[in-house]
Amino acid sequence: MTAPVASPRGSLLLEHPFEGAVGRKVTYEAPANLALVKYWGMRNEELTLPCAPSISMTLSACVSTTTVEVHQRAGRDEVLLAGEDGRLERAGASFAAPVRRHLDRLRAGVGIDGASGGHFTVATRNSFPSRCGLASSASGFAALTLAAVASLGGETSFEELSLLARASGSGSAARSVLGGWVVWPSPPNAPNGPAKQLFPPEHWDLRDVIAVVEPGAKEISSLAGHRRARSSGLFAARLGALPSRRAAVERAIAARDLARLGALVETDAAELQAIALSSEPPIVYPTTGTLAVLRRVAGLRDSGVPVYWSLDAGANVHLLCEPHHERTVADAVATLPEVLRVLRDRVGHGPRRLEKHLF
Ligand code: DP6
Repeated sequence: MTAPVASPRGSLLLEHPFEGAVGRKVTYEAPANLALVKYWGMRNEELTLPCAPSISMTLSACVSTTTVEVHQRAGRDEVLLAGEDGRLERAGASFAAPVRRHLDRLRAGVGIDGASGGHFTVATRNSFPSRCGLASSASGFAALTLAAVASLGGETSFEELSLLARASGSGSAARSVLGGWVVWPSPPNAPNGPAKQLFPPEHWDLRDVIAVVEPGAKEISSLAGHRRARSSGLFAARLGALPSRRAAVERAIAARDLARLGALVETDAAELQAIALSSEPPIVYPTTGTLAVLRRVAGLRDSGVPVYWSLDAGANVHLLCEPHHERTVADAVATLPEVLRVLRDRVGHGPRRLEKHLF
């Protein structure tokens, strides 16, 4: 694995911004991640600061690959997105606008004024369905941040890369720059802190079987959910419960105790859904397909298969299990008519730089 090279102290400010970078292509692959303790609710929207720390496992097969090329001349960033068939097409405004905003921030970070030069061509391909609650913005903004910083010649620390990824507005992207088991922010009492690896990927080979019941873009964004969280009468209780849950999740991961971790993960995911449902106006992420999968999980557990579910801001279901149960779990949900596709993923190593570019 090639990781972004980090100077121990790390500073993005370069003496000679993007000297030698023009025309150079850089490609990064960055993974999605599954939150075991969810980030839900912001204390500062401008800075993307969470109300409480979250813990995630970095995935391996669900990845975004992003190639960037920086041009000397001034102009508008060109944003391309791979379609279903893998061919690159000009991205629609809803995808391109936040990408351009993030590039503006990164340029400003290295002292480049986009109006006078240094605009990018950016292309992205996702290995999994996008914008449906499977964290494609986490993987996408992590890959974009790593590729753009590297293309500008920036040598920086993982901590700074995490903060830069967070600046995209996708808080979960702050976790996707690291592999294994990750907490964000760190330390937990510093909301503006970066993500930190709790355990490396080798610590525990846990599997995530993803039952896709709704591949289309979700109607209500995570941002809307974060904004509405406080309007739920349940939100304050969640904040009160989180410190001890977070500690318990860390202990369960440390002990590789799936039964304990699974119970905590289900409680946390159910709480997010309950808060969304009781927000004003309410947000309903699960569909009948989601519920069919949850019922199948209950059946599997009754028959002695230890498998536990999680849901994000979407209808699709993550199923956590040990490697020797992965096949059984995948087959059991694949037979449901509501399940359109089953993805099999696992704990991953984090981003890597690729030699092969998308264009
Ligand atoms: C439910 O604001 O990071 O996935 O930008 O859409 O990726 P996106 O969402 P973000 O909120 C994530 C919400 C969550 C829980 C989590 O990943 O912690």
